Amino acid sequence: MRYASKTGNAASVATDCLVVPRRTAREVAAAMGVTEHVGLVLDGTTSAPGSVARAYLKGRPSRLLIVGADDKDADAETKLAAFRRDAKAAATAIAALDVADATVCVDDFDAGKADAYTKTRTLLAAVSHAAYRFTPYKSTKTQAAKLRRVGVLSRQRAKARRALGHAQALDDGLTLAKDLGNQPPNICNPTFLAREARRLSRGVGNVTTTVLDESKISELGMGAFLSVTRGSATPGKMIIVNYKGGNPGDKPVVLVGKGITFDTGGINIKGSSGMDEMKWDMCGAASVLGAMKAAISAELPINLIVVAAAAENMPGGRASRPSDIVTTMSGQTVEIMNTDAEGRLVLCDALTYVKRFKPAAVVDIATLTGAQVVALGPQASALYANDDAVADALASAGDEADDRMWRMPLWDDYQSALDSAFADMKNVGGRAAGSIVAACFLSRFAKDFPWAHLDIAGSAYVSGKGSTGRPLPALFEYLVKAAS
Ligand code: BES
Ligand code: MN
Ligand code: ZN
Repeated sequence: MRYASKTGNAASVATDCLVVPRRTAREVAAAMGVTEHVGLVLDGTTSAPGSVARAYLKGRPSRLLIVGADDKDADAETKLAAFRRDAKAAATAIAALDVADATVCVDDFDAGKADAYTKTRTLLAAVSHAAYRFTPYKSTKTQAAKLRRVGVLSRQRAKARRALGHAQALDDGLTLAKDLGNQPPNICNPTFLAREARRLSRGVGNVTTTVLDESKISELGMGAFLSVTRGSATPGKMIIVNYKGGNPGDKPVVLVGKGITFDTGGINIKGSSGMDEMKWDMCGAASVLGAMKAAISAELPINLIVVAAAAENMPGGRASRPSDIVTTMSGQTVEIMNTDAEGRLVLCDALTYVKRFKPAAVVDIATLTGAQVVALGPQASALYANDDAVADALASAGDEADDRMWRMPLWDDYQSALDSAFADMKNVGGRAAGSIVAACFLSRFAKDFPWAHLDIAGSAYVSGKGSTGRPLPALFEYLVKAAS
């Protein structure tokens, strides 16, 4: 999708479809000379948050979309919530129309205290979501949205422009993240992810991609990572993309993503029902590659390193067994009591690896546990951190981006669930507090830097529908703030 900033008069803007809030619809209609027609539409439809009334006009624009409710005396927070609903409704309506171009009168919408920047971001985020399609494997592409361009009309030119740039960059990143997630696992394997990561640095001077293959991974002593990929015919890769957008002296933000391109469970094989969902077990990796794409597109003035720990978890004659003991890159040993708790095994070595970058902060993102889905559902990602500043920054970025996360405890009390009789730790605890215990496991490899962990098992995809791209909206917001 391409976004454009426009100025001037709503009534005279060149567009196929004009989008206005209900509160200014009559004014706009009068300026366009269609008072009577639009009046009939308004009288024949109800005013409610999230409602869309359509007026079909002669000439251009051929569509006028009238959005939301009329009410004026709500408080600022209620207005912002109503605006978010209106933005989603408007975006869905635009994407469903057979027009190539739409323009939204941003200034006319009342969103409480939100300025043109926030309103534009909210609107275009909704458009990005509504217009996304994944069709490479469909013989007929009839599902594709016709919409190509969305314009925002605002007198606050500088704010709208800045919002537009950020929205465009996020859309670029989200498209990549969702596409990677939705690819089938026979195509999207670790080699495929490595190729996609290389594309990010192609032709861009301040971006480099490094791909560690299994022999290099072995040399580094990443025994936990290797234990996961052993059963697979497609070799694992540790993928690193380094973007130098900031000052040379600035410590980088490091994002680490779980990239299990398919999770069968390994020898502790999963049940067959719903196993197809495990193609999305690389959504953490997809979100960090998407974050890199967005940072490059927005030319954010920060140093950013993303790492995708990519492997396939398969059973087989060479696969790890329950009770195997491996040595991690950190030197700590792990008794693998369940081969289906593989995410933490690839991530722990990635966390040890990133120490070399002397990070300002490390955030890992993983579809790590079914327990997270039970605890929070798709509404919020689980947030864990060993640093309050990083946790707060991520959580407020998530609130702003409407991509929420909820902080969970990382108390020492939970650590003993990982006690092992034979090694430094087991890779699983019991049934209790599964998402927390998984985070506790990771925390043992993240002692040398401010660190946060996002368990996105419930938020990363919608079964049978597709990848959501989450938590990229929150991550991008976090990076934008880190850059300013
Ligand atoms: N990839 C799964 C977690 C998952 C489950 C993601 C459902 C999305 C939806 C992970 O590798 C896994 O299998 N976790 C196990 C851990 C257990 C063995 C301690 C789980 O959650 O059951
Ligand atoms: Mn698993
Ligand atoms: Zn998994």
